[in-house]
Amino acid sequence: MEDHQPQSVRVERRPVSEQESRRANGPDWDRYADEYQATHGEFLGDAGFVWGPEGHTEDELRVLGDVDGRDVLEVGSGAGQCSRWVRLHGGRGIGLDLSHRQLQHSLRLDAETGVAVPSVRGTATALPFAAARFDIVFCSFGALQFISDIDVAVAEVARVLRPGGRFAFSITHPTRWMFPDDPGEPGLTATQSYWDRTPYVEIDDATGVVSYVEHHRTLGDWVRLLADREFRLVDLLEPQWPEHHDRVWGGWSRTRGMLTPGTAIFVAELAR
Ligand SMILES: C[S@@+](CC[C@H](N)C(=O)[O-])C[C@H]1O[C@@H](n2cnc3c(N)ncnc32)[C@H](O)[C@@H]1O
Repeated sequence: MEDHQPQSVRVERRPVSEQESRRANGPDWDRYADEYQATHGEFLGDAGFVWGPEGHTEDELRVLGDVDGRDVLEVGSGAGQCSRWVRLHGGRGIGLDLSHRQLQHSLRLDAETGVAVPSVRGTATALPFAAARFDIVFCSFGALQFISDIDVAVAEVARVLRPGGRFAFSITHPTRWMFPDDPGEPGLTATQSYWDRTPYVEIDDATGVVSYVEHHRTLGDWVRLLADREFRLVDLLEPQWPEHHDRVWGGWSRTRGMLTPGTAIFVAELAR
């Protein structure tokens, strides 16, 4: 669904395990990182916090609440732009990402901006942190839709959060899964069942190996996943396409954005 497809691939919908998802997506993000940062880096801002292709920022939405003096973990941090914003606003932001190359870009931006984000290579399903270590955990299109064992990832977030801690994340709006991933008119005609959770898979033509995976959950699935781990849903933002925004990012475009939501931002707090 991302706008990458760096090699010749065929697309399928089929079940994929957590191990297979990770084995595909780590190297895929390593291959794609240079192009991703070159294409989207300026839009994201080296120390900017953008929640999705619509361009809404944390300055505008205030989803995390006050980060000053807080311990904040970004899961799927990429080049750490959002965590750098957190640091500039007084938070102790830390990044975690599966991709070595994305983290190299994070180091590059640390040096270029003079704002360093301590970051670790790892996976959202096994966070290398002690229990109750953070006040806030967030993902801006990071990690969650690349994970098969999503219940494990949500449990991990609950484990590392302090009582009452906040978990906020943006993902492709689940309703987008009904449509072809096309920024133009064809992307406005529903062709797939919203309830079909079978993952989107790219398979390398040359090797037959799974090279990229995305997982789909419905809105109701997300509510249940959060409730099962004692999260209380505080808000669900569905940012509207801004009137004068014309940027195309993969399947996100003005053509589609004026009619259907492209991004969902969940905001939850630990009820314990
Ligand atoms: C769309 S990028 C978003 C990065 C960053 N938040 C941004 O806005 O540029 C998704 C990131 O999730 C990371 N990722 C994918 N699977 C992951 C996993 N299982 N655990 C942690 N990070 C993962 C990728 O390496 C990639 O850097």
